Amino acid sequence: MSEAVQLERRGEIALVTVDNPPVNALGHAVRAGLLAAFRQAEADPQVRAVVLVCAGRTFMAGADIREFGKPPQAPSLPEVVDVIESASKPSVAVIHGTALGGGLEVALACHYRIARRDAQVGLPEVKLGLLPGAGGTQRLPRLAGVEKALDMIVSGAPIRAGEALDSAIVDELFDGDLVEAGLAFAQRLLDRQLGPRRTGERNERVREDGLAELIAHKRGEAQKRLPGQFSPQRCIDAVEAAIQLPLREGLARERALFQQCLDSPQRAAMIHAFFAEREAARVEGLAADVQPREIRSAAVIGGGTMGVGIVLCFANAGIPVTLLEVNEDALQRGLDRARSLYAASVARGSLSAGELERRMGLIAGVLDYAALNDADVVVEAVFESLDVKRQVFEQLDAVCKPGAILASNTSSLDLDAIAAFTGRPQDVVGLHFFSPANVMRLLEVVRGKATANDVLATAMQLGKRLKKVAVVVGVCDGFVGNRMIFQYGRQAEFLLEEGATPAQVDRALRSFGMAMGPLAVRDLSGLDISHAIRTRQRQTLKPGQTLPTVLDHLIAAGMLGQKSGTGFYHYAEDGRAPQDNPALPAMLEQAAAERGIVRAPVSDEEIVERCVFALINEAASILEEGIAQRASDIDVIFLNGYGFPAWRGGPLFHADSLGLPHVLGRIREFHQRLGAWWQPAPLLERLVAEGRRFADL
Ligand code: 3HC
Ligand code: NAI
Repeated sequence: MSEAVQLERRGEIALVTVDNPPVNALGHAVRAGLLAAFRQAEADPQVRAVVLVCAGRTFMAGADIREFGKPPQAPSLPEVVDVIESASKPSVAVIHGTALGGGLEVALACHYRIARRDAQVGLPEVKLGLLPGAGGTQRLPRLAGVEKALDMIVSGAPIRAGEALDSAIVDELFDGDLVEAGLAFAQRLLDRQLGPRRTGERNERVREDGLAELIAHKRGEAQKRLPGQFSPQRCIDAVEAAIQLPLREGLARERALFQQCLDSPQRAAMIHAFFAEREAARVEGLAADVQPREIRSAAVIGGGTMGVGIVLCFANAGIPVTLLEVNEDALQRGLDRARSLYAASVARGSLSAGELERRMGLIAGVLDYAALNDADVVVEAVFESLDVKRQVFEQLDAVCKPGAILASNTSSLDLDAIAAFTGRPQDVVGLHFFSPANVMRLLEVVRGKATANDVLATAMQLGKRLKKVAVVVGVCDGFVGNRMIFQYGRQAEFLLEEGATPAQVDRALRSFGMAMGPLAVRDLSGLDISHAIRTRQRQTLKPGQTLPTVLDHLIAAGMLGQKSGTGFYHYAEDGRAPQDNPALPAMLEQAAAERGIVRAPVSDEEIVERCVFALINEAASILEEGIAQRASDIDVIFLNGYGFPAWRGGPLFHADSLGLPHVLGRIREFHQRLGAWWQPAPLLERLVAEGRRFADL
């Protein structure tokens, strides 16, 4: 037996324990250990049943992701799963924590499953560009039905133990000790003389009527919702095999489809994204023994768009939060909005009415700063004006207790200047949430020049508690994400002036995989905001840099985007799809004339290259300046805050995949043709000269 898997006899029951911290991933040692343990139990005449448990915080959380792309090492997981299912003695999987991917597949191969009440189960392979490759696509539909299985496999989302019980994925829930519960369940099987009950032999659910139509429907749905992604359709192919073929052939088909996914560049990109997200949690220069400060209560200043969303983040995490506004009306508006956002979740069925009240009960509203004297962290989300921020931070400095963390949600102002409004700049940090703050996963944690290490550590830990992906960034205009998106959005506007239409630009970038087109995004967030940023940036232009003027024309015509009914697009009152703005072509002609160019057709390829390569070139400067800690952090920011397609791994992984010499070559051409904005970033030139990639930094 290996160290990772132990076998003990408990009377007539063999107890198999997997112990491979941190998440009991099914690496080679675990697979080999499981195979040996189940074979030994099978061969031992004293053993009549087998109980499988995991040590530590969770049941097996899947195959060992680090092994993908390396030469396979026997035994394979399908082999192990086969031995478990075909055994002649009944086996029970005892699930706690998260039984995910290969972990759940092992459990499905066991003859019975029980789950601790707080456990979750799921097949998240699709999020790694894969499909369940150890029988999950054949066994889950046999237990839970084809529709439920498809929902779980194509979304990759885990479900709670209660739902798993309702779907017949587990047989029973328990509270308390794992081993006790497992042994007791196995003993009951023996007492009732129940033998193996093999999932693979249960065919009723995969031979129901109407399954072919269901498959066709789900295929269309996935095509619409996950365009460009390879593995969701392969997931559906594999489940289809479960309804069309006997188990053995279905398993073989699943294996072949799994291999196709494994070989696809999308798998490499998505696994890069998985590890990049975990890497982002590591802060350079922060010793492991830095103790985060304790956060038991929070306050938010300003109950507008962002403030309310941030209040919800705290309440969702069970942290009591006080909202401060300028007057009774504004305060009431903020609190009402918090309640109505929760009410919408209740209406959607994702929150219970009782939970709404419990979370609202964590939210207090005040007008007086004195009420903030005990808050452990305060997040300011008032107007984007240094003067207003000064008033707020001076008052916070006066009332907050020593050691309280004073955070700003500013999206572009100088955090060091804000910190200097207080007598405790070491306690000031940026917490840059993205809109809607209660939905978007990204949190840029802005490290000011005086920010103390324990404040930074606390901010990162708080991000995790709020279920955000926290990424450390440095101080500059726009930090990492917005600074890059300025370049991207500017190219989109230039392309309009050169001859493209908003619909063409947005369609080209959506086809590339962006969740939304850049111009639709602008209309959504308000062109007045883009225009204010543009006006500010006018003051810091470098020689040769010019700006597109289309925004000036739109603003002059009172076209502010969705909020005024017209922007790059026209929005009809009936909420139908956006239409062309009939006034725009004349504005673009005028803008082109001002630039001394004649509008002419632009190719989709040029649109995608101009916008995406502008991101990459700026990212290289950001890295060189140390504003981002590492290339993969920039990928994490774009994947979680800007709708960059996960299956491309982020802008810099994408650049590496295209090959940096190619990217630089195009940027040089743009530089020649289009001028100063395209000055190649020195880091990019150096990487190409040295034959290296962003991943090698
Ligand atoms: N393989 C290898 N390492 C893994 C892993 C896995 N499947 N899952 C997690 N880890 C590592 C993480 O990289 C991290 O390492 P680090 O501390 O060195 O950064 C450590 O375990 C802890 O992970 P998290 O920080 O993510 O811990 P959380 O407690 O926040 O989350 C989790 C735990 C929910 C299990 C989460 O890690 C997760 O979702 N893991 C991936 C699960 C998954 O995708 N499983 C399917 C794998 S593919 C498969 O099974 C194929 C099969 O069908 C053949
Ligand atoms: P908003 O205009 O919706 O809300 C600002 C709120 O602050 C208003 O309710 C106002 O009454 C209140 N307020 C103003 N002065 C105050 C004071 N002295 N004390 C208490 N409350 C005061 O603004 P929004 O969009 O929520 O932005 C807030 C901050 O978040 C800004 O710094 C902005 O740059 C930043 N941000 C905005 C994002 C967005 O998409 N809207 C995204 C990320 C950051």
